[in-house]
Amino acid sequence: MKTIVTMPGDGIGKTVLPEALKVLTAVGFEAEYVHADIGWEFWCKEGNALPQRTIDLLEKHKVGLFGAITSKPKDAAARELDASLQGKGYTYFSPIVGLRQHFNLDICIRPCKSFKGNPLNFIRRRNDGFDEPDVDVVIFRQNTEGLYSGVEWTNPPKAVRDAFETHPKMKSFKDTAGEDLAISTRIVTRGACKRIIREAFEYAKKFGYTNVTVCEKPNVLRETSGMMLNEAKIISKEYPGIELWDTNIDAQMMWLTKNPEIYGVIVSENMFGDIISDGFAGLVGGLGFACSANIGKEVAIFEPTHGSAPKYQKLNPSIVNPVAMILSACMMLEHLGENAKAEKIRNAVAGVIEEGNVKTYDMMKLKGGPDVFSKGASTTQQMTNEIINKIA
Ligand code: NAI
Ligand code: MG
Repeated sequence: MKTIVTMPGDGIGKTVLPEALKVLTAVGFEAEYVHADIGWEFWCKEGNALPQRTIDLLEKHKVGLFGAITSKPKDAAARELDASLQGKGYTYFSPIVGLRQHFNLDICIRPCKSFKGNPLNFIRRRNDGFDEPDVDVVIFRQNTEGLYSGVEWTNPPKAVRDAFETHPKMKSFKDTAGEDLAISTRIVTRGACKRIIREAFEYAKKFGYTNVTVCEKPNVLRETSGMMLNEAKIISKEYPGIELWDTNIDAQMMWLTKNPEIYGVIVSENMFGDIISDGFAGLVGGLGFACSANIGKEVAIFEPTHGSAPKYQKLNPSIVNPVAMILSACMMLEHLGENAKAEKIRNAVAGVIEEGNVKTYDMMKLKGGPDVFSKGASTTQQMTNEIINKIA
């Protein structure tokens, strides 16, 4: 039997992850679940939000389901650290970023698909009424490099500054004092480009998408975006039935609302992928619907895009939408080759949304709070149960 490492984390991560497990059980997915510690509690108690025992469990079992974590600014992190650990050189780092780096989870997949009847779907004005475009876009975001590589300085050391000054364009910054100069680098490797582009094409082939769009900015970022686009041109030749398109990130954001339905798979560097995946998620219902996968050569972790929503964590019953977490579990099923079960769950979610009898507060465009039930919103658990009833 497959073993899945479950990492509920903080806040509503603890609420939505158990809901996804109920749905996995209902669809007949047999697995053993082992709990792993992650998040703020472990920062406070142990000085480490990502304990080694959690890394060991993932190393062993290879597949993880993750809820969400809470992170707080530096001073709050220092203040909330257990008194016995204070002043001993502990520094907080985000455990999900830590996991992506540790296991080199370089492929981030973020599907953004509209469900028929979702009141949060984007609509577009026509001359004679409105269109509701059927969005079905899957974003492949390079997850480990690019502008989020973390290679950056304010007041760069002399050796770095000297090296930069060998570039003719650095002349414009020659007179800027070190402490007034901040540099964040955009590092792209050919190997990582090839991997994310190949995964994007393979996914398009497997799921029948007819176009793959490289969304970059090669006219300005000639080196890094240029490398991505060149590699895409080479790899695309191996996929004759799939067209390669390329768009610039800025133009893509303009076209986001103009013609989102024409795009299939989109592939981008880390930051651009971050931006467009939020953009497309906004067209299909936002955080309550945004699922994702982080995939490396050995380990894969599936998580909703949303955070721990601390303001709602104490509400009982819970108001939050479990769909993003449930759809992330579907992505896990596909990763494990359980496509039919994933499809069954997605169809159930689609059915519940289309019927519209059960809606969480976000789907009713309500402000979150304990009063949403009196306005007709369903609880997190009612939403899950309705999905489970549809599966049965
Ligand atoms: P958030 O995603 O937790 O919440 C933003 C807003 O989105 C919430 O107030 C709520 O209105 C809505 N929302 C989120 N999930 C929802 C759901 N399932 N159903 C319905 N509505 C939902 O982001 P925020 O407020 O910026 O950050 C809160 C904490 O989460 C912070 O500590 C932050 O560092 C952390 N965070 C963690 C992430 C992760 O674990 N991957 C990602 C983003 C934020
Ligand atoms: Mg983001």
